Amino acid sequence: MPFTSYQMQAQGKCNGTLEVPGDKSISHRAIMLASLAQGVSEVKGFLPSTDCEATLAAFQSMSVEVERVSATCLRIHGVGLHGLQLPKNDLDMGNSGTAMRLMAGVLCGQKFASVLTGDESLSARPMQRIQEPLLKMQADISMSSNGTPPLVINKLNNNASQLVGINYQLPVASAQVKSCLLLAGLYAQGETCIEEKAQTRDHTERMLQSFAYPIKIEQQENSKNICIQGGNALIAANITIPADISSAAFFIVGALISKAGKLELKNIGINPTRNGVIEILRLMGADIELKNEKMFGVEPVADVVVRSSKLKGIQIPTHLISNAIDEFPIIFIAAACANGVTELSDAEELRVKESDRIHNMAVGLSAVGIEVREKADGIKITGGRIKGGEVDSGGDHRVAMSFAIASVASEQAITILNTENVATSFPEFVASAKQVGLEFC
Ligand code: S3P
Repeated sequence: MPFTSYQMQAQGKCNGTLEVPGDKSISHRAIMLASLAQGVSEVKGFLPSTDCEATLAAFQSMSVEVERVSATCLRIHGVGLHGLQLPKNDLDMGNSGTAMRLMAGVLCGQKFASVLTGDESLSARPMQRIQEPLLKMQADISMSSNGTPPLVINKLNNNASQLVGINYQLPVASAQVKSCLLLAGLYAQGETCIEEKAQTRDHTERMLQSFAYPIKIEQQENSKNICIQGGNALIAANITIPADISSAAFFIVGALISKAGKLELKNIGINPTRNGVIEILRLMGADIELKNEKMFGVEPVADVVVRSSKLKGIQIPTHLISNAIDEFPIIFIAAACANGVTELSDAEELRVKESDRIHNMAVGLSAVGIEVREKADGIKITGGRIKGGEVDSGGDHRVAMSFAIASVASEQAITILNTENVATSFPEFVASAKQVGLEFC
């Protein structure tokens, strides 16, 4: 992939009306469940990003037929839970932790062996978190000695040639681990129950229900228990995917830090396990209004109206971290423009995302003139004037887009290096940014 960069002019605008593309997490899950369902599913609002296309290509290489009605509309001919065929090659999951970890759950239940690979960033991400519970389910899954991809999955190694259900308490707050185990649970004998202490995104649970798969969810006082019984069938469904709140978040912050912006974003997913970014920004003083709330199937959406606001620094509440886990790079830009200090703790997970987001953001913020202290489990940012300068995204799509948005409030131009991975989640980012008034040199 060619090395690309953005050169952002200072003081761009961020206003008007914008539609951002479909949700990445939900797009991955729609492909997976539709492929494993009985019958033909129509998926609208699909995100045609390189990450989601990699998931689609993986299922196509396992004999799932996909009709491309348009870039964002797919008709997926499900093969049923046991209809996938041996792929000819290793499955390349590109940059996507979600694709690799969820696919691992599916592939551990198959009667053929497979190998999952990824790009340089994905090849450095921790996979023991799925290996440990999958081994308990009697899967045969191995990886490099330091716990990173490629993942090598062999045919089941027990006599029953079936995975075995487990009770598992998630040691890290991770929807990817939870979803991996729920998908493996489709192939397990008996029940697989997962207990989560911190609430993580629940798109898999919701979408299993859309595909008529029984799932039991019990909310206890300090935890949630999610149980699935193997051996039932997924039935084809028509899915409309909400616009991605993680992509919307860039423009929400852009409007907040602009001089006099009012921005309206259409049909944004506001699932309560994903809307931590709105809650955190409101605590910082953001003027964010939700209008026209409705459901896209099992997922709530709303139009989000944002007005330029005077932000103040806050201690970010721990209980909101997992519901805003992908939005911290852009929240840090909001913090850089706020009055006072913003502090985040208990967020070491940010070090094992597409890049070490605590480090890359700290280095970038300081390069553009913001006082910042990196902590082992978070960051402390003193709001001030963003001067401008050159930032390396470290190949992280969300770091790249965050600094592009920072230019709305910068005194001088900002150059962002290494922006090619923006295509993994938001291929139309530059066009959308130009539409609302950001200026690229
Ligand atoms: C995702 C879960 C989160 C998030 C990722 C998408 C998902 O990861 O950071 O971008 O779709 O399940 P973790 O489960 O590792 O926290």
